[in-house]
Amino acid sequence: MNNYQRIKLPYELNELEWVISFKTMYYHYNILHKNYEVKLLETLRGTEIMEQFPTLENLMENLAQLPEEIKDDVRFFGGGLINHNFFFAHLTKFKPEQKERERTEKISPDLLNLIQEKFGSLEKLKKELVKSALKVRGSGWTWLVLNKKGELKIINTTNQDGPWSLHLRPLIAIDVWEHAYYLDYGANRKEYVEKLLELLLNWEYISQSYQSYIS
Ligand SMILES: [Fe+2]
Repeated sequence: MNNYQRIKLPYELNELEWVISFKTMYYHYNILHKNYEVKLLETLRGTEIMEQFPTLENLMENLAQLPEEIKDDVRFFGGGLINHNFFFAHLTKFKPEQKERERTEKISPDLLNLIQEKFGSLEKLKKELVKSALKVRGSGWTWLVLNKKGELKIINTTNQDGPWSLHLRPLIAIDVWEHAYYLDYGANRKEYVEKLLELLLNWEYISQSYQSYIS
């Protein structure tokens, strides 16, 4: 089984509701995310690309090797698929009674140390991510990534470009396309990003991702 498909959500569509409404989630996951998968598979139909690149990560890391006539579509639809797979996987349902302390305790000590070394504190990292997300012009993403030297960096990408094709590994993904927040927050991107970072990140998943990248 390959992973050229949408992930199954690890929560219900209405379980992020303190931050992201059911309506936004329905549209984002069931319509848009599904569409990236469908369009990618349509683009690859009749080719041997999926045999050549057994995983979606593999495919996105090797865009340069693809035939010119499909490269742009794979970049966009494959990017949409893999970016949203990571984005939805690294969120967790929010229970108002859960205290921030209980949530952040799930960060592995190794990752927390690295964040503190680079940014000073978790709070400062979140502030930097917000600042970066506000600089995305048009549609795009803000990421916390790990590079090959094991260093943390914040980057922005446009449209559906993402860290894989830059040979970076994602730890935090913030979808700043308007479809991700406009229904719920209007033009207030800042409030959406702050709440997402504060209330929805699955630090256990992020820490496991970090461990898998360094091992
Ligand atoms: Fe999105």
